[in-house]
Amino acid sequence: MKVTAKAPINIALIKYWGKQPSADIKPYNDSISLTLDALYTITTVETHPEGLFSYRLNDRLILGNDLTRIWYFLQTYFPKFKANPSLKITAKNHVPTAAGLASSASGFAALTLALARYYKMSETPEDLAKIAKQGSGSSARSFYGGYVSWKTDGTIAKIPGDTDTLCFVIVLVDANEKYLSSREAMKRTVATAHSYHTYVKESQKKALNMEKAIADNDFSTIGRLTETHARHMHETMSSAMPPIQYLTNESRKVLDVVAKMQDQGIKAYATMDAGSNVKILTKTNHLDDIQTFLHNHGYRDLILSKISNKGAEILE
Ligand code: ADP
Ligand code: DP6
Repeated sequence: MKVTAKAPINIALIKYWGKQPSADIKPYNDSISLTLDALYTITTVETHPEGLFSYRLNDRLILGNDLTRIWYFLQTYFPKFKANPSLKITAKNHVPTAAGLASSASGFAALTLALARYYKMSETPEDLAKIAKQGSGSSARSFYGGYVSWKTDGTIAKIPGDTDTLCFVIVLVDANEKYLSSREAMKRTVATAHSYHTYVKESQKKALNMEKAIADNDFSTIGRLTETHARHMHETMSSAMPPIQYLTNESRKVLDVVAKMQDQGIKAYATMDAGSNVKILTKTNHLDDIQTFLHNHGYRDLILSKISNKGAEILE
């Protein structure tokens, strides 16, 4: 038997940064994301012809810590794998891996859906999300399209909202692997950042305001909340010990260009995750202006993406 699944990445507007100490993976603050259609993972799962186990990601065998993480995930959450770990898995990230562009979200969502079909398990988004988030928290949101919330009580749901004219322009500052994984970075932030409690309290307020802005289809408020929240998250992690600095001088230069766009009335709002790349949330009618602006400032490495209205799916 052979199963292929595709899962999109999602970019959080209000970001999850820290896990509660519970076995079922709950975030310390509510998060709200958008699902992107241009960046995704495709994963094929099949019986291994020689009865072995292999996991190839982007044409290379997964080894070391990455293999340990996958092996633990498969053994713990797929009882049929534990009973017979003969599987050939081939994954391709159509997104830079471990560069703060959410490859772990699309990667674990595609893997979980392919395995659920292979082992004939439940394929409801709720059940898939419960498993996938054990591999990577943010992957829970990649089973839904559009706006998606993941809350502190563990619930994950689509938020109704108009996403037809929304899009992202991603400025690729650095496609290399980050120096510190999101997992380690958030652990360190929770344990040592003196302002972490303030971050959680503020995020909860912003998540409520974001839900209201989405219901009102108020793009300016959605954008402002997105940008202020991202900046707050990065400030918070920079107060950890030792400080975590994903943003580089290059990222800050892009932020300055975004500020210039805003001064000229372009609705462009920046958000950054665990990496130096900058994602600009905007509306399709501003795309030409934004691209011209970025080109004029020397930025040519851009990825454009609309919002996907569907989450992970089986391809064959
Ligand atoms: P990102 O910003 O890309 O999500 P993370 O630090 O959260 O970065 O996670 C990156 C890690 O996720 C990789 O080092 C790898 O262990 C895992 N990962 C990424 N893509 C896949 C995939 N398709 N299958 C399995 N694991 C993956
Ligand atoms: C900044 O989901 O990659 O992108 O659960 O440890 O795998 P793990 O972390 P991950 O962290 C995502 C952090 C973020 C914010 C977000 O996507 O909500």
